Amino acid sequence: MCGIVGAISKNRNVLPILITGLKNLEYRGYDSSGVAYLKNNKINIVKTSGKIINLENKLNKSDESNIGIAHTRWATHGKANSINAHPHRVNHITLVHNGIIENYEELKEMLIDNNYSFKSSTDTEVATALLDYYYEKFNDIDKAISEFMKKVIGSYAITMIVDNDLDSLYVLKKESPLVIGISDNANVVASDIRAVLKYTNKYYILDDFEYAKVSSNEVIIKDIKGDILKKELHAINVEDNDISKNEYKHYMLKEIMEQKSTILKTVKPYIEKGIDSLLILPDLTKYKEISIIGCGTAYHAGLVAKYLFEEVTNTRCNVYLASEYRYQNSFLSKDTLTIFISQSGETADTISSLKLVKSKNCPTLGIINVENSTISLLVDKCLYTKAGVEIAVASTKAYTAQVALLSILALSHGLRNKTIKEDDVLKVIEEFNNIEKLITTLLNNKDMYLTIAKKLYKEEDIFYIGRGLDYYLSMEGALKLKEISYIHSESYAAGELKHGTISLIKKNTPVLASATNNKLNAKTISNLKEVMARGASVYLITNTNYKDNTFTIVNIPKSSDFLKALLVIIPYQLIAYYTALLKGTDIDKPKNLAKSVTVE
Ligand code: AGP
Ligand code: GLU
Repeated sequence: MCGIVGAISKNRNVLPILITGLKNLEYRGYDSSGVAYLKNNKINIVKTSGKIINLENKLNKSDESNIGIAHTRWATHGKANSINAHPHRVNHITLVHNGIIENYEELKEMLIDNNYSFKSSTDTEVATALLDYYYEKFNDIDKAISEFMKKVIGSYAITMIVDNDLDSLYVLKKESPLVIGISDNANVVASDIRAVLKYTNKYYILDDFEYAKVSSNEVIIKDIKGDILKKELHAINVEDNDISKNEYKHYMLKEIMEQKSTILKTVKPYIEKGIDSLLILPDLTKYKEISIIGCGTAYHAGLVAKYLFEEVTNTRCNVYLASEYRYQNSFLSKDTLTIFISQSGETADTISSLKLVKSKNCPTLGIINVENSTISLLVDKCLYTKAGVEIAVASTKAYTAQVALLSILALSHGLRNKTIKEDDVLKVIEEFNNIEKLITTLLNNKDMYLTIAKKLYKEEDIFYIGRGLDYYLSMEGALKLKEISYIHSESYAAGELKHGTISLIKKNTPVLASATNNKLNAKTISNLKEVMARGASVYLITNTNYKDNTFTIVNIPKSSDFLKALLVIIPYQLIAYYTALLKGTDIDKPKNLAKSVTVE
């Protein structure tokens, strides 16, 4: 969840690399931060709670150093204060950590028995002491790291400085992400290479139970036994990874606006040569069933795919929350393709579910936005969404890219299993070719979204309802609103309200709905009438010509089933954005959340 940066150079001051890197990683966690660097041959640690700007203000501007480590924290153990902030230092070892040391209580007791004492409430300080304990015991850092890896249960990406070897950074990895960027000027360790792209685009990826000694002119990567490994050097395209905010007030708004191009960019390779290019996509006809796994918004994208696979291509599809899937009976079979959806490709629960499926030798496919991320490298086959870097914690363009790619996958499956006629396939391709125009019209409807936001932003409870696909979209609409505006918003299957939840409807409770399915629209509208009769204020997004002066209606264009989700979600995203804007929340970095959920 946190962001780690470490840098070492022969002749340049690395403090600007650390601070810029932390700022670029701040979206990953932002409750406290800290830095450790060599000053007058001693380790100097500066830590503070709150945003990176607080850390920057606390740093001595004239300090310079050739080696340092830095961290932005998303607390798991212990409050978000400066004592618990990283780096932690115990005797010879100073380190930053991302992850959770699950057996830290037992380790802490052992360390206390061996005369260690602790200042913070974190699991990380225990990890620091354990590394020091083994280092003292063996007087050999390789042996210490190896013993540490054998002893610790949990997840970690660690970057550390060892007092007796101040010309190197040591990095260790299990489950949490960590890459080692290399350049002539400085070698840079980071949770995400995009945070340090200004300095380098070439990097090594560490796998679990690997560690590295990073000095200014060399990177030596070893496995848990201490054997040197030869790793592939990766390169990332700098242009595709632009993280500037341009003229926008928030990344979220910028990313919502980018959807006019990111959707088409994602599906283009599979539609540009008509039907032939659709057949580039994996053939799913060899599977009896499809399972989809993800968290949060990625899970919601999976639900849209379920609708298309089941209703349009007549193929059974189950969607699971990764955090549940990993602990339930998964009824795995080789006839089922399991699709993993993730923007970051680093979500801990999704990775664990993937490992479970792989351990049974069952087929896997990834729908991933970040190239060379853990999930993208683990799945049998990976299809990349082309949303570009998504910085705002609330996912928007990654969701529509996932939905678009899954829709095209379902379309190609429908073509292959003959549930969709070729003519209809061509019509859908045509619609996707026109998507930029459709999305732009929806994005330009700002006055409407702002009018609705003005009605919502002082409310405490808001309901989102729908049937079928529209129910799945209500889930994503409600999630967007709650995560950035902090207004309690819940989604319900429209027909389910009267089985309990309708008791919460009172005068002026806002109820938002979408209705885009001719077979179900009348029923959803009846449900809206029912809540109106109990005082609710009703907002309807629809592609029908339905007119009703007592509803606020947002019209969207008519389309095939394959585009409906993409068109409904734009108003939902912008209503959430403007509501949060009126409330004055920290839209890009909502409280308590982190962009990349790398702990369970
Ligand atoms: C989306 O708005 C959320 N912040 C969150 O639900 C996110 O979609 C989820 O954590 C999954 O992340 P991933 O796509 O990177 O795996
Ligand atoms: N578990 C550690 C802590 O609470 C690390 C959290 C993180 O990954 O930011 O300090």
